[in-house]
Amino acid sequence: MEKWIITTKTKPQEEEISKAKNIAKNLNCIYEERREKTLKKISTQNNNSPILIVNKKQGLKAYTPNQKIWFWHPGLSKIRIGSLKNNLPDHLYRSVKPKKGMKILDANLGMAHDALVLASCGANVIGLEKDKFIHLITSEGLKKTNKNKEYPKFIRKAALNIKTKCIDNETYIKNSKDNFDAVCFSPMFVKPQFKSDDMMPLREVALKSWPTENTIKRSLKISRKVVIKVEYEKHPKLPEPTRWSHGQGSRIAYAIYE
Ligand SMILES: C[S@@+](CC[C@H](N)C(=O)[O-])C[C@H]1O[C@@H](n2cnc3c(N)ncnc32)[C@H](O)[C@@H]1O
Repeated sequence: MEKWIITTKTKPQEEEISKAKNIAKNLNCIYEERREKTLKKISTQNNNSPILIVNKKQGLKAYTPNQKIWFWHPGLSKIRIGSLKNNLPDHLYRSVKPKKGMKILDANLGMAHDALVLASCGANVIGLEKDKFIHLITSEGLKKTNKNKEYPKFIRKAALNIKTKCIDNETYIKNSKDNFDAVCFSPMFVKPQFKSDDMMPLREVALKSWPTENTIKRSLKISRKVVIKVEYEKHPKLPEPTRWSHGQGSRIAYAIYE
């Protein structure tokens, strides 16, 4: 049984209750009737469990053990894609060099911000996320994006180029019969990337795994390029890449294998 609790917003519609019950059944966790209970109360009564809240209008939300609300949004991808349109560089984009029609594997989907940047040129991105709750929130968020006129058209279009899979990246890469133009990894950093990081709530619940040497080797068998986003000089050991791409003064670097 998973430690997450599934509930609804207060005063839910029948449809929301039945969706919450279905998610609980499919993801093997407990459904708890919301009634008038606060999220804090539900969480403390369940050993500080994270909570997934079903809300038809606002989409799925997570309440983390540190009492933060996390929901899917395009975050910095909006600014990053906007910058690309004004010919300003994006470090990941420059390292991967995606093109329309290319097939790219994003082995750490998370909130799909990197995936959106890569998909914005018309590349087809497959995003892998091992955590089933993060996968559910992000994949639903991406699906709803298309109908959400609040987002710029370029975000709605990019979201259509992303397919997601809930699977461990090592398992997928080991068994993949598909070939890609690039495989990208963005494992969780030891320290957050920005102080006001909009990924902070995700950091609390995300899995922290690092690609093994075998996975990198195997990735190079199914792709002509592998790009790993790292925290410069803080990252665990990596096989020597073909080259590093490192912005001046930035603590983020990309290990590029070709
Ligand atoms: C730093 S976040 C990725 C952020 C993402 N690139 C973005 O732009 O939103 C790392 C994500 O990889 C997921 N993850 C960790 N280990 C994984 C694995 N072995 N297979 C698939 N996903 C994994 C984590 O749960 C987390 O959501």
